Amino acid sequence: MFFELGLALAALHFGVPLGYYAVAKRWLRKDWGIKEDGGYRPKISVIIPTYNEAEHIAQRLENVAQSYPRDKLEVVVVDGASTDGTAEIAEKWAEKAGVDVKVVREERREGKAKSLNRALGLATGEVVVIADADALWAPDALRRAVAKLADPSVGAVSCVKRPIGGPGIEEGYRGFYNALRVAESKAWSTPIFHGELAAFKREALEAVGGFPTDIGADDSHTATLIALRGLRAIVADDVLCVETVPEEGYHAWRIRRAQHLIQHFAKAVPLLRKAPRPFRAVLAAEAYLHLVNPWMFAGAVAALTVSAAAGSWPALAALALGVALLAYKPYKTWATAQAYLMAAAVKNLRTKE
Ligand code: GDD
Ligand code: MN
Repeated sequence: MFFELGLALAALHFGVPLGYYAVAKRWLRKDWGIKEDGGYRPKISVIIPTYNEAEHIAQRLENVAQSYPRDKLEVVVVDGASTDGTAEIAEKWAEKAGVDVKVVREERREGKAKSLNRALGLATGEVVVIADADALWAPDALRRAVAKLADPSVGAVSCVKRPIGGPGIEEGYRGFYNALRVAESKAWSTPIFHGELAAFKREALEAVGGFPTDIGADDSHTATLIALRGLRAIVADDVLCVETVPEEGYHAWRIRRAQHLIQHFAKAVPLLRKAPRPFRAVLAAEAYLHLVNPWMFAGAVAALTVSAAAGSWPALAALALGVALLAYKPYKTWATAQAYLMAAAVKNLRTKE
């Protein structure tokens, strides 16, 4: 009984994502259906939220300044009361930059989303771009993102990410998820965005009321709300950014990000009904994969363990296979991600961080 249950849960746990991946691979071959305009040059406001980014901020400002014509570019650094001199470095940089840079200093740290909304109130661009301080853009990333925003059907554009630093597992994980984000975007829209580069049409951003302050994944949730209102939110494969993966506290970082995504999907599920057709399937699949599917894995392990304890050799063999497969990297990467999602769900019960 428990043996069959264990197998059924395992089949569900691995079958659904494999099936989704097969569908996504077909989407990857689709055309974008977007009319790009490489000459579109709207005024852009780049918002850089910072908390203790002294190590990164100067290089990041340089990187942003080189990404777009300076007369069309406005940068707002919004600092959440850093204690390492981030704001001072940004101010100094602003003095001699020849770029319009405002540095907003908050009196205390109130979280990234609140800072983004404050900066949004000051931003005058037609396009508003979030740029995490601990990331970098490829030189053409912003221009390529903007070219897509020229299409009236597109409301928001984000990047594919290349990880720098951290354990090697991060790279395997990234390649897979980048492909998935692009596939979903080609299908119509993706519900997962990246704070390293998240470009929004200002009007679309205002229509959804700015950035939500009650959940962590402000970028993803905002993009999803925009898609729910009928404009595409896409991760484009030619828009590349580099993210810094922390060497220290890697597990805690992965769990925190998983917490954010869980909060985002939990909030998005009740809105599923309103989703435009092609987006509904994507949003439902991703919500299932983040909220439910990891627990199928846990359930399978539990059922097989009960069965093995009762003397079932096939159950023991299935468990042994599950452990042995950890030597196979994609499987290990997958299993690790499930563990992070479960740890994050549990942690979400106590803290929202
Ligand atoms: N003003 C302000 N106030 N900025 C903050 C605060 C704050 O309280 N906390 C963090 N920041 C800044 C950081 O300095 C950085 O520039 C940016 O916000 C993102 O913070 P990280 O600490 O680097 O977050 P992360 O890398 O774990 O997560 C990022 O990526 C996720 C997935 O793409 C964030 O952008 C998440 O919002 C995003 O969901
Ligand atoms: Mn970061």
